[in-house]
Formats: sequence, C-alpha cells, structure tokens
Amino acid sequence: MTINAPTAPAQAGTSHDALAKWVDEVAELTTPDRVIWVDGSPEEWRDVTDALVNAGTFTRLDETKQPDSFRAASDPSDVARVEACTYICSREEKDSGPTNNWMDPDEMKGILTQLFRGSMAGRTMYVIPFVMGHLDAEHPMFGVEITDSEYVVASMRIMARIGAPVLAKMEELQADFVPALHSVGAPLQPGEQDVPWPCNDTKYIVHFPEERMIWSYGSGYGGNALLGKKCYALRIASAVAHDEGWMAEHMLILKLTSPQGKAHYIAAAFPSACGKTNLAMLQPTIPGWKAETLGDDIAWMRFGKDGRLYAVNPEYGFFGVAPGTNQRTNPNAMATLKGGHSIYTNVALTDDGDVWWEGLENEPAHATSWKGADWTPDSTEPAAHPNSRYCTPITQCPILADEYDDPQGVPISAILFGGRRKTTIPLVTEARDWAHGTFMGATLSSETTAAAVGKTGIVRRDPMAMLPFIGYNAGDYLGHWIDIGKQSDASLLPRIYYVNWFRRDDDGGFLWPGFGENSRVLKWIVERIEGTADARETPIGHVPTPEALDVDGLDLTTEQIAEALAVNSKEWQAEIPQIQEWFTKFGDQLPTELQVELDTLTTRLGDC
Ligand code: GDP
Ligand code: PGA
Ligand code: MN
Ligand code: MN
Repeated sequence: MTINAPTAPAQAGTSHDALAKWVDEVAELTTPDRVIWVDGSPEEWRDVTDALVNAGTFTRLDETKQPDSFRAASDPSDVARVEACTYICSREEKDSGPTNNWMDPDEMKGILTQLFRGSMAGRTMYVIPFVMGHLDAEHPMFGVEITDSEYVVASMRIMARIGAPVLAKMEELQADFVPALHSVGAPLQPGEQDVPWPCNDTKYIVHFPEERMIWSYGSGYGGNALLGKKCYALRIASAVAHDEGWMAEHMLILKLTSPQGKAHYIAAAFPSACGKTNLAMLQPTIPGWKAETLGDDIAWMRFGKDGRLYAVNPEYGFFGVAPGTNQRTNPNAMATLKGGHSIYTNVALTDDGDVWWEGLENEPAHATSWKGADWTPDSTEPAAHPNSRYCTPITQCPILADEYDDPQGVPISAILFGGRRKTTIPLVTEARDWAHGTFMGATLSSETTAAAVGKTGIVRRDPMAMLPFIGYNAGDYLGHWIDIGKQSDASLLPRIYYVNWFRRDDDGGFLWPGFGENSRVLKWIVERIEGTADARETPIGHVPTPEALDVDGLDLTTEQIAEALAVNSKEWQAEIPQIQEWFTKFGDQLPTELQVELDTLTTRLGDC
C-alpha cells in the first residue's frame, strides 16, 4: 500500500511545545491529508456537520422538530463499548489487576504503532484541545484528542469543554495534558469512496495509566472514541485519583431540595444502562420536593477543607440511552433535546425527518430502522438499537443546578449504589457505616445490558459500577475506598445506600414503578440523614419500615411494597458463596475490612 505524506502542514501552530511535538509525530505516523485544529467556533460546527451530512453519516433532521440536530447510523458491528478489546497497560501486570485486560506496554505500543501507521491516509486529522471539569479549576485537567473522525469532533464539542479557550490556557500554563489518540482505522486510497461509518474489525481501546496516555483504534462508538469520557474521566482519572487521594467515579450528581427548603446533594453509581441519566433528571412525584441535575455519568470527588466530599461533573453534555426515554420517564431529557444541537445515533428515522425509538410516544406507522431497513409496528426487529444514544448539551437541561458552574463542586450527603437485579436486593438498604457501604459497592451486582458488546441479562459483579472503568488493580481500588473513609470524620462522610429499581414479582413485572416515583426513596434517604425516618435493622443493613416510606397516592398494595422491601434470608444465603467466590479473585489485594464485612454478614444471616 502506498502511503500519502501529509500534503499540508498544520493550519495553526501552537506555542505549547510538547503539544506541537506530539501533533507532528502523530501526523508523521498516521499520514493524514491535512491537519485541523478544532477551535469550538459556530462556523466549525456548521462545517463539520455539513461534511457529515455530505458523507452520509448524518441525516439533518426536520428543523422545526429537532433544530440543528442530526441522526447517525453506525456500522452494525460498532454499537457499544468493547470490553474484550479494552486494555490497561500498566508496566507491571499486577497493577492492572484481576479484572482488566493487560499487555506489556512496549508490546502494545508495537502493535498499535503498526496499526496507526498510515491509518489516517486520505482523511483529515483533527486536534481537539479539551478540559474535563472547569477551565478555571485549581488544577484544570487537560487533554488533547487527535482523531480522524468528524463524528468524534462533533460529539466531543457537545460532551466536553473544548477549543480555543482551552488551548490558550494550556499554552499559558505550558500545562501537562493527557494525549488521547484515536483513529477509526480506515485509511482511504486516492479516489476511494468513503463509507458512512468507517471503522475496523480490529479494535483496541488502550490506556497507559503511568504515562496518562490513551490510544484508541478501530471504533467510532462514543464510549470507545470520545476519549474524554470513559477513557480519561474514569480510567485514567481513577489512576490519578488513586495516586493523589481523590475519587473518579461512575456516578450521577443530583441536588434534592425538601419542602422545607433544605438542599442535599446525592451521588449514585449504577452500571451502564441501569438508570443514572433518569435519576439525575428525575421529576419528583411527591409534593414540595425539587430535583436539579449536576451530572448524569461521572463524578470527581475530593475532600474540602471542611472534611466533606465535594463532587464535580467533568463533562459538558449527556450521552444518554434513547430507548425508554419519553415524557413520562424522563421529561427533562426530552426538554433538553428540544433545545436542539443534538446528535442521535442508531435510533430510527421517521418519514417526516424526526427520530423515534422503542418507548417514545407517537409510534410511527413507518420508519427507517437503525439498520436502514423499512420498519413498521409489525416488524420483528427493533426500530432503534437497544444501546442507541442521544448526545446533547448539558446547558440545555431545564433543571441544571446553578452549582454546575462551581469548580469547587457540591458537598455530597449520600452515595447510592444500584443495579439491575430481579431478586434478592431490596428497594433500598442503608449501610451501617462507610466500611459496610464499601462492602455494598464492592459486591454490587447487575444484569448485563446492551451498553457493552456481549450477552445481556447475565448477573455479574460490578464493583461501584466501575468494573469496565477502573484504570488500575481493582483490589487496590477497593482499598482506596476503605482509605478514603479513614480520611475524614465519620459524621462528615456521605451515608451509603444500596437501591434496586428492578426487582420483579412472580409474573416478571417490576415491583416498583421507578422513574419519578424513585423520589420516594430519595425522600426516605434524606430523612434518614436528618434523623427523622424510621428503619428496621436487618442482617444486610437498615431498610425502611413500611410506614417510613412515603407511598401516598401510589397505586401499590401493602403486599407489593413489602415484597419490594423484603430481605429474604434464603436469597441472601445463596448470595454468600457468590460473594466469597468474587472476593477470591482479589487474593491478597482484598482489603481485610471487606472480608470482615462478609464474615459479619454470614454470621448475621445465620442468626436469623
Ligand atoms: P444510564 O445508562 O445508567 O444512564 O441509564 P438510563 O437512565 O439511561 O436508563 C437505562 C434504561 O433503564 C432506560 O431504558 C430506562 O428507561 C430504564 N430505567 C431507568 N430508570 C428506571 C427505573 O427507575 N425503573 C425501570 N424499570 N427502568 C428504569
Ligand atoms: P451510561 O454511559 O452509563 O449512561 O450508559 C455510557 C457507558 O457507560 O457506556
Ligand atoms: Mn456510563
Ligand atoms: Mn446515562
């Protein structure tokens, strides 16, 4: 294969020496036709989206229904995160740990260098300076993504703070940054016609935690390609946080104000496609309570001078699961999307230039499915992929909390863990203390979803909903959680809860209505924190007494509520060997505190 040399030098240079050097090196390796520095201007958005429309990647949606918004359909093979191709390449294998894929960093760089050689031929190489979190944070967290995908450029503009102001600050500080290199891995021969969604069957999503560096090859899907999100703000940031004594977590951040006007900030970790975006934007069904959003996927938490944990959302947009989103389940997401400037991927396209997905109102009589096929309500295949997504600016969210703009973040009163479990896990359980809460997080389990490639519905342990995102040894990560709990007074730490919106009755239906009704559970949590709500002590922690949970106006029988809250000792006894087996994975790396918690639980269950 003949490789084109870059025909034009970079459009704009930079006075950031290390960045200039890296951009030159990458251009030499990947041989793009041209290099463009992404500045974040409105003209650039127009140019990039026009280019995507011309390439057939984007369909421009009807301006009155979806202003300045686009629909993309991916290659059918490139629809989710690829955990099997995701690596943590620490120098020592033990630092990657029992839950991550590992390869020697030099060996991996050898493989990737071969793959990236000439990989941008015939394409444009974009340089995207970005910052995760606030530009005026005490220590702004810079990154630069180099990509050959216009789809990535358009999406990164929504999901992160990017462009000229970021580059100017980086230059002023000659700041360190995370180099994040991405290619779809589809070079074009001269004259070769491009496809709407270029990608490669060979995929590598690779992190070098000690070097704070990311290389991603072969996929255009959000979680694999928008490198500020999972790769930087979770995997790399968790390794940085471990070194520096803070936390990078897969958590939404929510502000809840009681009828008395008292505000509490709540963070919650659920695995992908288990309800973070919905809870982050919930519309309370109980009178007088108000919810506001700060973030729907990632929280960075540090101790403040007052000894409390403060959280910021490092992102600038929402990358939400489309199916199931509608006016009833998530009216605030719908309102955010109404603001326009959004990208929909792998949803159906209606004949009048709108989008549709399973669960949305106004089912069309005919549409084009995410696979490009004719779709009608009689079709056996879904119109939208189960992991189809919307990408939309957070600033358009009607209930965005003012504190979102505060680089100090908000003090967290409660941390929730949750997952999808048909059985065993009650609607809500309160941990006795931080170590017990860490045990709840460490043993969190959930049925797998379409957010990652692979079989769905399989129960797996997903510690703190971070299984696919821990950038170092998971045993050390659990130890870090235990250590965090020792850094402050117990009374200042967030209280920890385990929730399950997905428990089923004997007929397979959800026992709990969920969505806005989850405000009832949040109310109990706030009242627990304020010392006004009752709880029953059980072997697994404190659960609400039936009277303590506000079920006013809820269409549920007393039996149904009792079933949702039930602690069934038979089910829990079956859980013990599974937890023991899970803990065995960690060997010596398992914090002793967690084994003690398991022994305590076993004893308590034996006593009841
Ligand atoms: P995220 O990926 O963690 O942000 O999860 P989402 O909030 O996007 O939700 C993923 C899927 O779970 C969507 O199809 C939602 O409709 C569904 N979901 C979210 N919250 C609830 C809930 O409280 N109850 C039930 N039954 N489903 C929910
Ligand atoms: P989610 O984000 O957690 O909102 O699903 C994307 C992902 O985790 O892949
Ligand atoms: Mn996520
Ligand atoms: Mn989400």
